[in-house]
Amino acid sequence: MTVAGGTFISFEGIDGAGKSTHIGALAEALRAQGRSVVLTREPGGTPLAEQLRALALNDPMDALTEALLMFAARRDHLLQVIEPALARSDVVLCDRFTDATFAYQGGGRGFDLEVLATLERWVQSVPALGPHSLRQPDLTVWFDLPPAVAATRLAGARVPDKFESQPQEFFARVAAAYAARLAADPNRFLRVASDQPREQVWQDVQAGLRQRGLLS
Ligand code: TYD
Repeated sequence: MTVAGGTFISFEGIDGAGKSTHIGALAEALRAQGRSVVLTREPGGTPLAEQLRALALNDPMDALTEALLMFAARRDHLLQVIEPALARSDVVLCDRFTDATFAYQGGGRGFDLEVLATLERWVQSVPALGPHSLRQPDLTVWFDLPPAVAATRLAGARVPDKFESQPQEFFARVAAAYAARLAADPNRFLRVASDQPREQVWQDVQAGLRQRGLLS
């Protein structure tokens, strides 16, 4: 739980890991239990951040430019949407957050993790938590899927964006970077093995949230 009483949950995984349906189902389950839920995504979630998303996902650019756009979008989203929601004690369900930057720009593109950590500290320092604070999700659900399985799921899907069209080696590096983020902060993460039938994945998501007292 955050200081303000809200709950901030992010969802991560390589493209094709299948997180979207579970995020929607979880929103329904939490609303059925009387919680106010804000469903949002990164990059995006505000008009400005959605414009930055369109640029970052479609235009070619170097990894630092890409990381700066992700964090610029994140700053706007955090201040305009996430922080006000947590102050109202809402549940924020966010499709991707900073772990995605470490995974895609850091792992996938090989960009400097120290620079990303500096940007993370700047961007996620928020007034509600004080001067040197670091806003992080209370829980991050990581849909862990082998890159080879994700590749077969993505093949033949809609027109791929800049990241979805990356080779399997890229996603192997992204997955390894997610694993490293989990190793650095294991209490924040719920790892869900996603190479299982969708219903089993959903059961595991619910069980993980129940165990943490986030779902009854
Ligand atoms: P995704 O969340 O998969 O949305 P959709 O299901 O609509 O395709 O797409 C977002 C893409 O952006 C995904 O490929 C990962 C990438 N991304 C980054 O590279 N860095 C980031 O910091 C974030 C938040 C996303």
